[in-house]
Amino acid sequence: MLSRSSIIFVCFGMLARAATVTYDFNITWVTANPDGVFIRPVMGINGQGPIPYITATVGDRVVVNVLNQLGNASTSLHFHGLYMNGTSHMDGPVGVTQCSIPPGITFTYNFTVDQPGTYWYHSHEPGQYPDGLRGPMIITDPNSPYRGSYDEERILTISDWYHEQFPTMVKKFISVSNPTGAEPVPKAALFNDTQNLTTLVQPGKTYMFRIINMGAFASQYFWIEGHNMQIVEVDGIYTQEAAADMIYLTAAQRYSVLVTTKNDTSANFAYVASMDEDLFDKAPRSLNPNVTGWLVYDSSANLPKPALLDAFEPFDDFTLVPTDGEPLLPDPDYYVPLTVLMMNLGDGANYASFNSIPYTMPKVPTLYSALTTGEEANNPAIYGTNSNAFVLEKNQIVDIIVNNNDPGKHPFHLHGHNFQAIVRSDDDAGNYIGNETFPTIPMRRDTFMVRPNGNIVLRFRADNPDKSPPFPPSIPPLS
Ligand SMILES: *[C@@H]1O[C@H](CO)[C@@H](O)[C@H](O)[C@H]1NC(C)=O
Ligand SMILES: *[C@@H]1O[C@H](CO)[C@@H](O)[C@H](O)[C@H]1NC(C)=O
Ligand SMILES: *[C@@H]1O[C@H](CO)[C@@H](O)[C@H](O)[C@H]1NC(C)=O
Ligand SMILES: *[C@@H]1O[C@H](CO)[C@@H](O)[C@H](O)[C@H]1NC(C)=O
Ligand SMILES: *[C@@H]1O[C@H](CO)[C@@H](O)[C@H](O)[C@H]1NC(C)=O
Ligand SMILES: *[C@@H]1O[C@H](CO)[C@@H](O)[C@H](O)[C@H]1NC(C)=O
Ligand SMILES: *[C@@H]1O[C@H](CO)[C@@H](O)[C@H](O)[C@H]1NC(C)=O
Ligand SMILES: *[C@@H]1O[C@H](CO)[C@@H](O)[C@H](O)[C@H]1NC(C)=O
Ligand SMILES: *[C@@H]1O[C@H](CO)[C@@H](O)[C@H](O)[C@H]1NC(C)=O
Repeated sequence: MLSRSSIIFVCFGMLARAATVTYDFNITWVTANPDGVFIRPVMGINGQGPIPYITATVGDRVVVNVLNQLGNASTSLHFHGLYMNGTSHMDGPVGVTQCSIPPGITFTYNFTVDQPGTYWYHSHEPGQYPDGLRGPMIITDPNSPYRGSYDEERILTISDWYHEQFPTMVKKFISVSNPTGAEPVPKAALFNDTQNLTTLVQPGKTYMFRIINMGAFASQYFWIEGHNMQIVEVDGIYTQEAAADMIYLTAAQRYSVLVTTKNDTSANFAYVASMDEDLFDKAPRSLNPNVTGWLVYDSSANLPKPALLDAFEPFDDFTLVPTDGEPLLPDPDYYVPLTVLMMNLGDGANYASFNSIPYTMPKVPTLYSALTTGEEANNPAIYGTNSNAFVLEKNQIVDIIVNNNDPGKHPFHLHGHNFQAIVRSDDDAGNYIGNETFPTIPMRRDTFMVRPNGNIVLRFRADNPDKSPPFPPSIPPLS
């Protein structure tokens, strides 16, 4: 259901080709059995689950016509990592930039993409995407600094998998019967929504693997036996080549890595993802946290079991250097201090909070309030006392300081921007006290992990104002 129409236009003397890529997505329930032990209903698109990939080229307009035919659930789509520059009303989070798409209703996402790289798209209705509405979104780049450095691309998704449906699980998770807030433990890990994936490779070639953790909860260690990886992209930002034996991906993080195959085709090699069990309060003995795939040089040769490792030593993403060399942004104009704390509220259930405020979705999406309240839009209180609103001025430099007062690892994602990751403390460093020296060319990405009882500082420029059409749109008179 993909159509592509192209127009050629001349832009500042350069010949540019901008296409419109259109997807018609009919979202319905289908069934799937990705781990081979449990058939269950999942949310699919056009009768397909796992759902289709979205691909486009830098500069393209992407139009996604969503028809919600789930019957018993509302939905929305978010395009993770895309800045939606000027079109924040197309970003997808329910309660922030739009209302849910109710059953039977169509919503059209329509935006241009001016950034290359590896992204993913997923439902942004609370707690919904792990039930199937999650898939890769790849923006190809004719001007990639790594064009010519590899022969072929392979997309690889990693995810955790549950047997129970999320609405039921979330009810048990946030409840008086789970006062410690222990997160539901996945039943399995998956590659490309399956297991025992075989990837045919040819000798003496370089492949670029675009690796996406589109899981609900589990971070994943990833490695390839007998092969080294050269990291070249994180979350849409090209990096100087960095050699890694193992990488660590929190939910929502992406890496592109170059892998050069051997000249010898006599053996096949396992690649493995292993869920970070530090995240699980109590995992059942029966849980296999690992999923295996193989680089297959010879289909008639055996698929060796991966060796068991004693310890995980992943590459430290804080050390990556963007190829564009963007220097440290100037000192901030504004600080957003956020203390992460899990707390038990009056109902006995455990909630995550920023600054002791657990999020409550506003009845009116935040963006709609901003666009309809005139001068009052500058008053954070209008967005709801439990939405933790901070009002920024255009082009301010902002430091988000995340102090993790919880013994768990937590990934943070910023919509509409990437950020310079300028501080990441070790475990148990406590709150940020401001004595760090910042990198001169900081690593940038859109999802970053804070360590247990540690802190991170994320710096960005507030340069993505909404340019929505006049709001509310003119409403035709009732007849
Ligand atoms: C959407 O999919 C459902 C289930 O396959 C089908 O009944 C319905 O006709 C489809 N609608 C459209 C507009 O394609
Ligand atoms: C993958 O292989 C393992 C080991 O043989 C097996 O236990 C598992 O069920 C397989 N997974 C699937 C989805 O077939
Ligand atoms: C919605 O329908 C699907 C498919 O029949 C079912 O599996 C699911 O449990 C239902 N969800 C709710 C919240 O009733
Ligand atoms: C998408 O937006 C562009 C720019 O506003 C507009 O010209 C085009 O008609 C829209 N396409 C759809 C399918 O709504
Ligand atoms: C994952 O699945 C996609 C879609 O089938 C395929 O194009 C890709 O090559 C697979 N990735 C690997 C590493 O095998
Ligand atoms: C594979 O063969 C090519 C061409 O002969 C050579 O340049 C390369 O170094 C060899 N690679 C390895 C890993 O030995
Ligand atoms: C999963 O892989 C890790 C790393 O190799 C290993 O330590 C662990 O024993 C494996 N677990 C299972 C159940 O195979
Ligand atoms: C900052 O201060 C803390 C607490 O005194 C200390 O542990 C840490 O090493 C200091 N960091 C730097 C970069 O000096
Ligand atoms: C959005 O576009 C404006 C105008 O081109 C640019 O100045 C700004 O940096 C962009 N912001 C993002 C987040 O891409």
